[in-house]
Amino acid sequence: MKDAVRLGVVGAGNIAVKHLEALQGVAGASVVGIASRTRAKAEALADRFGIPCVADDLDGLMREARPDGLLILVSVSSIGAVARQAMQTGLPLFIEKPTGLSPEESAELARLAGELGVRSMVGYNRRYYSVFHEGIEVIRRHGPLLGLLIEGHERIDAVRAAGRQPDAVLHGWIYANATHTIDLLRFFGGEVDEIHCLAHRRREPLGDQFAAIMNFDSGALGEYSAHWLSPGGWRVVLSGQGVTVEFKPLEAGVWTDAKGQRHEIAPSESDQPFKPGFHGQMAAFCRLVRGEDPGWPAQDLAGAHRTMQLAARMTAAVADRPEGGGK
Ligand SMILES: NC(=O)c1ccc[n+]([C@@H]2O[C@H](COP(=O)([O-])OP(=O)(O)OC[C@H]3O[C@@H](n4cnc5c(N)ncnc54)[C@H](OP(=O)(O)O)[C@@H]3O)[C@@H](O)[C@H]2O)c1
Repeated sequence: MKDAVRLGVVGAGNIAVKHLEALQGVAGASVVGIASRTRAKAEALADRFGIPCVADDLDGLMREARPDGLLILVSVSSIGAVARQAMQTGLPLFIEKPTGLSPEESAELARLAGELGVRSMVGYNRRYYSVFHEGIEVIRRHGPLLGLLIEGHERIDAVRAAGRQPDAVLHGWIYANATHTIDLLRFFGGEVDEIHCLAHRRREPLGDQFAAIMNFDSGALGEYSAHWLSPGGWRVVLSGQGVTVEFKPLEAGVWTDAKGQRHEIAPSESDQPFKPGFHGQMAAFCRLVRGEDPGWPAQDLAGAHRTMQLAARMTAAVADRPEGGGK
């Protein structure tokens, strides 16, 4: 077996639990230490997952646990500062999304990683959904991807009502969370070479309704729509040569053949026990830590910045609109 990969974790919240569960299924991955702002939470996760070292902070984690790679799993508003500090270690980093609340922040992180030569991977886990990979294969068996439709409705009212997110995160929600579905445009379609966007800001200053059409360098045509004030859920439709693949919810796929027959796409065995995509994502990060190529669809800070720029193109369209929506 290849050498064990020694991982250190920063952050002990909800998503840390999901990553630690997934790592239990990755051969050769060993979590050697954890640090978080509230030590008691790190201690609870250490007990639950058998992590040998709890440190007070990143410096302590480096000294006491001697990891080969770090997982930065802190709250949205802390991601930038903790990632910047972690880059000084020179270790490969897995950084949860979003890489900031503005494209300026994500650009700065990408620039710094380039300057320091830090290898990174950003946690847009939907890239690792096994059902998406199977859906792409179904399309490829029939020819090229012709079209791509993504509905990325956000439940902004429910998020505001839950009261868990600070104002800055709510204000930047298009970057904080809508980038999950905006990133899928690039995952499925490739880079966008032409885009036209319309947007309204009925309540949210950066927009709460988005309609965009685009052309990808792959040759596919894309559409993105998001109506944050209307119940909807996320949806992806891939149009191929004599075949259509649909995901709604994103975790379940169905493809329709030229005769109109529908075929289900089931998640892979390795994806099933965990939060979808997390097992494949952590396996890729362990390859990165070993110095191997994590392979497509791993995305570093520079790639995640391109997703942030795409979100910026969409929100820029509200500049033409008055607050409160309307014409
Ligand atoms: N990929 C996905 O599907 C997905 C889903 C959910 C969340 N996420 C991302 O995962 C990240 C964490 O979300 P979450 O839901 O786990 O949040 P959470 O439950 O609030 O946990 C965040 C953890 O980070 C700790 N923390 C905050 N600032 C810190 C700092 N400066 N230094 C050390 N630790 C710090 C918090 O400490 P305290 O306990 O003291 O608050 C808490 O333990 C966010 O960036 C979010 O965008 C991704």
